[in-house]
Order: sequence, then C-alpha cells, then structure tokens
Amino acid sequence: MTETEKKILAIETSCDETSVAVVQMSSARVRVLSHVVNSQIVIHAAYGGVVPEVAARQHSRHLIPLIERSLREAGLQMADIDLIAATQGPGLVGSLMVGLEVAKTLAWLHRKPFMPVNHLLGHMWSWLLPQPLQSQSLSLDFPFVCLIVSGGHTELLVVESTGRYRLLGRTLDDAAGEAFDKVAKLLGLGYPGGPALGRRAAHGDRTAFAFPRPLLHSGDYNFSFSGLKTAVLYQVRALGQLNDQHVDDLAASFETAVVEVLLAKSYAAATACRAHSLAVVGGVSANQYLRGQLQDQSTWPILLPELTYTGDNAAMIAAAAYWQYADRRSASQFLSLAARPNLPL
Ligand code: KG4
Ligand code: ZN
Repeated sequence: MTETEKKILAIETSCDETSVAVVQMSSARVRVLSHVVNSQIVIHAAYGGVVPEVAARQHSRHLIPLIERSLREAGLQMADIDLIAATQGPGLVGSLMVGLEVAKTLAWLHRKPFMPVNHLLGHMWSWLLPQPLQSQSLSLDFPFVCLIVSGGHTELLVVESTGRYRLLGRTLDDAAGEAFDKVAKLLGLGYPGGPALGRRAAHGDRTAFAFPRPLLHSGDYNFSFSGLKTAVLYQVRALGQLNDQHVDDLAASFETAVVEVLLAKSYAAATACRAHSLAVVGGVSANQYLRGQLQDQSTWPILLPELTYTGDNAAMIAAAAYWQYADRRSASQFLSLAARPNLPL
C-alpha cells in the first residue's frame, strides 16, 4: 500500500443528499479539506417519502455549484486533485446517474483517475473521518465487525483488511431506519421520523410495552423489522387515542427492541469473528440510545462516525475510494461504467 497522500474529490448522490467533499488521505492520516451537503429532506417531507424524479432533478440543479464550492473551500483547483470518486450504487438510479456521469465527465476532461464506489463501503469507512478541516491519524486494527444501519440498509459485515470484507447477514425485510421512519409515522412524528422518535423515546418507559425482538435467537446474523412494526401498529390501535405519554412509551419500547437486536447480533458476530473492534455506521448510528448502549455494554473498542458523517455524505465515499486506489483497484475504462441501483457488496 502506498504511503503517498492523495487529494480526492468525491461526489455522493445516491438518494436525497447532494454531497461533495475533498479529502486528503494516506494510509497513516486523513484530513477533510471541505465537505458540503445539500439536503432535500424538506422537499420530500411534503410527500411523506423520497420522490425519485424530484431527487434526481434536485441533484442536477445543485451538484455543479457544490463542486465549485467544495474546491473553493478546500483552497484547491481541479489541477490539484489526484483522484475523482463517485457513488456507483446502490441507490436510486436517476440520483446515482447525476453524480456518476458528472464525476466521470470531470475525470475525463481533467485527465484524472476515476474510482466508482459502493455506497455501503462508504458508510463502512465513515467512522475514520475527522470533522471538516480537522486531521486524524489512522491506525487500523483488523478484523473489525461493521454494522451498517440506514434508511435503506441493515448489513452486518466482517472487515478483514482495507480491501477484504465478508457479508455476515442483513435484513430480510425492512431496514432499521425504515422501521424507525414507519413507526414514527404511526406515532404522528412526521418524515423522516427516526430522529424525532429517538427524542420522544428519551422521555418514555422502555418497558411499557413488550414488543418482540425479531430473530434474536435465530442463530444467524439476519434481521427482520417488519413484524415489530406491525406489533407497534396493533398496540397503537388497541390504545385508540394516543396521548403524549403513550407516544413516549411506544417510542421508547420500540427503540429498545430494535437496539437490543442490533447490538446482540453485532456482539455475537464480533465474538465469532474474534474482532478487534466494532463499527456502527449509517443514519441510525446517530441514535443517542444506540450510542449510549454501545458505550456502556461493549467489551470491544467502538468505532462510531462523527454525527456529521452518520447520514449520506461524500467524505466517506472519498475514504472508500482511497483504499481502493491504494489497493490498485482503479477503473481504467471508466467511461462505460453505469449507475447500478442494486450494486451488491
Ligand atoms: O444513512 P442515511 O442518511 O440514508 C440512507 O442511506 O438510508 O440514513 C437515514 C435513516 C433514516 O431512516 C432516519 O430516520 C434514520 O437514518 N435516522 C435515525 C436517527 N437519525 C437518522 N434513526 C433513529 N434515530 C436517529 N437519531
Ligand atoms: Zn446511506
């Protein structure tokens, strides 16, 4: 692996955040030179979920100005960039296409190497990023187990080196973040309701309702959250008119069930894989109860992203691109690369 520092311009547009970052990285040190995000949440909230066509149109409107801003904030020009990276998948096809095609075009125009990145591998490395304008030294300790919990994904992996990882299990139905959002909707907390649900749960009784812990004892590393969501629905119907206390208690009991299953499976995987540490990443890793439980219970060093990088962001795409580049997994015929909405790990 090369020790040379690379300046990476990365673009992430897989869902509803347009993000660009410039990251300077070597295998020993990482510095985020700029990191910009335009979130579309307010626009999609009016529809109660992400509208793919609207998302793609928003990306195409904001991406070029964000690239210019990101370079300006980093104090750099295109000529200074060593590598251009973009998310290739998984995600919404129209959204992915905007970022990928713009990044490929820039790489071709400026004769830079180009690196397509799997969005999930971006999340997998998000914990190593320092806050924008900060620098951090790196000392990676393998293997580590990584739980990716976001609005679209719940995946448990073991990471054996910067270029080697193995999928241990995943959700069989809803993603953890999706379950948070659906239950939040049932409780009248808006969209995306995960953060609001977390805030209400902090005031509730975690034992008020005995919700199921799906697949807790299944003996594998898969998850299932749709039955838990249905259990909350039945409880809401049984209660009739919900008062504030009901909402707090339902939120707390639901959150406790989800976190218990997520952590139990992660600990089991960490033990079985003789992991040296445990990473928990993705939108749901912003959840305060999850973070607190991890810090209190875990016997492994915990790798958590800064809150700036729990959601979708381009800095994590730059980090994943760096490892691929260092492992010489560069894409030479990149002009023919297409967006892949179902790109597997
Ligand atoms: O990683 P992310 O921004 O986008 C995807 O790749 O899906 O994750 C978004 C998800 C949403 O479902 C959101 O409700 C959830 O992460 N989320 C949370 C919290 N903050 C975001 N869920 C629970 N508690 C939170 N504090
Ligand atoms: Zn994501």
